Amino acid sequence: MILSQEEKVQNRGLEMGPNRKDAYVSELMKFFPKGGSRNTQLVHRLLYAALIEARSCERFKLLSEQLEDQELAKFYRDLMVSEANHYTMFLNFARKYEDRDLVDQKWQDLLAYEAEIMQGFSKDATMHG
Ligand SMILES: [Fe+2]
Repeated sequence: MILSQEEKVQNRGLEMGPNRKDAYVSELMKFFPKGGSRNTQLVHRLLYAALIEARSCERFKLLSEQLEDQELAKFYRDLMVSEANHYTMFLNFARKYEDRDLVDQKWQDLLAYEAEIMQGFSKDATMHG
């Protein structure tokens, strides 16, 4: 039987908390200028999504490597693989919709911006942001 994420949490005697607004995502999504063609907007959204997925992937990798609970470790390892696939899928989609060199330049610029905004964040625990 495949359990949902919520059922897995409940089986451990815990409750899912409400969705929280994610300051990292809000800050990140200020980078590209608003407006422009629908195509450009799509590429920018794909790059945001790719980066968020890539960071989730890294987080799940660390969690899966450090957990002693083998069931949880596998759960996070599986999530890591999913997130890695999402990351590369979004980045590759972006490269399909705009010139590859331009997309790669935007990607590098977004990474540099992300490094800047990370200086301003605390080390509070978050899962997907
Ligand atoms: Fe994902």
